[in-house]
Amino acid sequence: MPAATPYSMKPSDRIFCALDTTETNEAVALARKLQGVVGGVKLGLEFFCANGADGFKAVAETGMPIFLDLKFHDIPNTVAGAIRAVAPLAPKILTIHTQGGPEMMRRAAETAAEEAAKHGYDKPWVAGVTILTSMDDSDLKAIGVNDVVADQVVRLAALAHKSGLDGMVCSPREIKLARLATSPDFKLVVPGIRPAGSAAGDQKRIMTPADAIGAGADVLVIGRPITQAEDPAAAAQAIAASIDN
Ligand code: C5P
Repeated sequence: MPAATPYSMKPSDRIFCALDTTETNEAVALARKLQGVVGGVKLGLEFFCANGADGFKAVAETGMPIFLDLKFHDIPNTVAGAIRAVAPLAPKILTIHTQGGPEMMRRAAETAAEEAAKHGYDKPWVAGVTILTSMDDSDLKAIGVNDVVADQVVRLAALAHKSGLDGMVCSPREIKLARLATSPDFKLVVPGIRPAGSAAGDQKRIMTPADAIGAGADVLVIGRPITQAEDPAAAAQAIAASIDN
């Protein structure tokens, strides 16, 4: 069963700001600035490898909901163990690789639900990563996958849905395909977002916040357009206003 929406989805709640830093102080300061203007923040491998659970707790103390983006990929038993290990932190969204297969995804979803019940909070969304956007058709071929990226994304999205995940991470250009392959309540978490006129940086397949929401995204993951802005809260507010229709 899909997770309950852990918070109301007003426009600002749909924005999770990626705090791609190894510095706890910097992450805490940004989380404080963004309090009340975004739905939460995303902490990834870079932050967690540097600061671990203590760093997570320092950011969580600001009251900000946290998307813990560790992209677990291992045998089912180990992924379930990793989810149990981070469960006391009460993340709102967790990520795993769908390429771990159906049994790994099922165990991840079940474990997240059991742990949330045990710790007394709403089940986090367990979102699947399909094909990393850094990979193209020739990279897939190099690892023995002869399907093109789009077909493989659709296959893994459908499998993630069937295996009990709550949603998936997808690029803006995959939103429509992912929606068709899954269901209306499957949560589409979408990075690669750039407000009109902002720098793309290293992102190649970008979409504006309004277009991504219009295409069917549930949550937008936005980093540098907010974190590098002179006034991060104002930048986030402008993005929220742009999707408020
Ligand atoms: O700064 P920017 O808005 O590009 O940050 C996007 C965030 O989403 C980063 O944390 C990046 O690692 C993550 N991400 C991504 N593309 C994916 C998956 C995750 O940009 N396909």
